[in-house]
Amino acid sequence: MATVTSTASPQVQSAAELSTRVQDPLWWRQAAVYQIYPRSFADSNGDGIGDLQGITSRIPYLSSLGVDAVWLSPFYPSALADGGYDVDDYRDVDPKLGTLEDFDAMITALHRAGIKLVADIVPNHTSNRHAWFQEALASPKGSAARNRYIFRDGRGPNGDEPPSDWDSVFGGPAWERIGDGQWYLHLFAKEQPDLNWDNREVRNDFLTTLRFWSDRGVDGFRVDVAHALTKDMTEPLPSKADLGAESDNNNGLHPFWDRDEVHEVFAQWRKVFNEYTPPRTAVAEAWVHADRRARYASPTGLGQAFNFDLLKAGWNSGQFRDIITKNLAEAKSSGASSTWVFSNHDVVRHATRYGLPVPGPAGGSQDGAAWLMSGGKEPALDHTLGERRARAVSQLMLALPGSAYLFQGEELGLHEVADLADEHRQDPAFFRNRGVDIGRDGCRVPLPWTRTGSSFGFGSGGAHLPQPEWFGAYAVEVQEDDPASNLTFYRRALELRRELQTEENFEWVEEISPEVLHFIRPGGWRCVTNFGSAPAALPPGTVLLASSPLQNGLLPADTTAWLI
Ligand code: NOJ
Repeated sequence: MATVTSTASPQVQSAAELSTRVQDPLWWRQAAVYQIYPRSFADSNGDGIGDLQGITSRIPYLSSLGVDAVWLSPFYPSALADGGYDVDDYRDVDPKLGTLEDFDAMITALHRAGIKLVADIVPNHTSNRHAWFQEALASPKGSAARNRYIFRDGRGPNGDEPPSDWDSVFGGPAWERIGDGQWYLHLFAKEQPDLNWDNREVRNDFLTTLRFWSDRGVDGFRVDVAHALTKDMTEPLPSKADLGAESDNNNGLHPFWDRDEVHEVFAQWRKVFNEYTPPRTAVAEAWVHADRRARYASPTGLGQAFNFDLLKAGWNSGQFRDIITKNLAEAKSSGASSTWVFSNHDVVRHATRYGLPVPGPAGGSQDGAAWLMSGGKEPALDHTLGERRARAVSQLMLALPGSAYLFQGEELGLHEVADLADEHRQDPAFFRNRGVDIGRDGCRVPLPWTRTGSSFGFGSGGAHLPQPEWFGAYAVEVQEDDPASNLTFYRRALELRRELQTEENFEWVEEISPEVLHFIRPGGWRCVTNFGSAPAALPPGTVLLASSPLQNGLLPADTTAWLI
C-alpha cells in the first residue's frame, strides 16, 4: 500500500495545547473533519445499527487518526425513510441510536479528546411522522398547521393532477396527495414534506433547535440542502420544461433552488451562532452554481459552504488545477476558507471512482460513477489503481488550505459495495427510480473493525447492510500496525498536516510537465502530484510522505509527495 517515509511517532497533546485548540474561534478554517454516518460506524448493543455509545467507544480511534472534528450525520428520531434525513423530532436522539444522555457523554468525551462536533441539521423538510406534519394532516385545508408546509390544490377538473409536473430529486413526482384531495410538496422522498420557510413559526423553531444543540456543546452545523429552504410558490407554477437544469440556475430566480431570500434565514442563524463562545460554525450543503456559492460562505451567513468540484473531477491535472485556483479565489472573496471533499454518504467512494474502467468526466451522466450506479460491472474496476489514486488525491487535498472533509472508511481505502442485493437496499433513490440507479447504500455499509468475526467487529449482532467478504482485508485491525497500510498513511498525513499548517497562503510552482501539479505552502511545505504515466523528478528537499513508494528518487505515476 502506501509509503510512510517519516518514522516520527504521533505526538501526545498536552492539556494546554488541547484547550487552546478547543477555544480557537477559527478552528474550522483548516480543520480535518471526519464524517460519521452513525448507523454504520460502530454498534454497541448488537442490534445491527451503529449508535452513539459505539461512537464514544471509538474515540481513541478518532484521536489516533488525528482529526479535528467529527461531522455527525442525522442522529434524530427517524423512520429512516432516507437514512435519518427524515427527522421526526429535531431536539432528541433516535432511541435506536441512544439517548440525550448518551449524546452528552459522547460530546464530553470528544471534547476531552480535543475533537469538535458538527451536527447535521435538516431544515428543508421534516419527516412525515413529525408532530407538525401529523397535525397538518389532521387539520383542514388553509389551517395554520397546513401553512407550516407547502400544501396546494391539484390541477384538472377534480384536482387529481399534481399542482405542477415537478420531479422529486429521488425520482417520481414531487407532490403527494392526501385524504382530502390536497397535495403537499416533497422535493425528496414522500416521507420528507418540505417546510414553508415563509412561516415565522418554522423560522423561530429552528432557532430554538440551533440553541438547543449549541447549549449542549455542539460546535457547528452542517446544513442539509441549504439552498432549497425559501421558495416562490406563486401560481401558476412553472413547468419543469420552463425550469431547465438545476445546474443552469445562476440568477436566484428558480422557484426552489438557491433563491436570494434564503440568505435572510442564514443571517438570522448567524446571530444565534455568534451568541456563543467560540461562535458556532456552519457549512452549507448547497449544490449551487459556483458563482453563487460564496454567499452561503459569507461571515454574515453560514460561514462555509461545501465545494464538491474536486469530487466531480476526473483523473486530470488540468481540472484539478482550475478547480483549486478558482475555489481558493472564491473563498478569499467570501472571507471563508475553502472546503474539499472526495467522499461522503451520497456518492460512490473515491477509491472506487478512481478505479472505474469507464472514461469521461466525473459528474456527468456518462461518467464512471453513473455507469456503476446503473448496474455497470464489466469491464471490472481496477481496485489497486483506484486505491493508489485515491491516496494521491487525498494527500493533495490534505495539503490545501481550507477544511478537508473525510468520510468514514476512506482512511481504510474502502471501496463502494456496488453489488448489494436489491432486497437489502434502503435508499429511497433506489426505490423511487425503480432501480435504474442503484442508490447510495454502497458507501454506507458498516465499517470493518476486525479481520473476522461478527460483522467484522462493527457489533455483535450483524450489520444493517450486509458487508462483503472482502471487507475483512480492509479492517482497522489488519491495518493498525502495518507501516504500509492506508490507515497508517492517513494518520501520518493528518499528523504532518497539523504540524506544517500555518497561514492559509498557497502558491503554484510551475513544472515542466503539465501533468505534474506542484504547490508550496508557508514554511516551504511542498506538495507534488503526478497525474501522468511517466515518473517525474521531485524538487530538492526532504520527502516527508509519499502516497506510493518513490522509484529511484522519482515520483511515480498516480502519486503525491510532500517535501520540505
Ligand atoms: C442531502 C443529504 O446529504 C442526503 O443524504 C439526503 O438524502 C438529502 N439531502 C435529503 O435530505
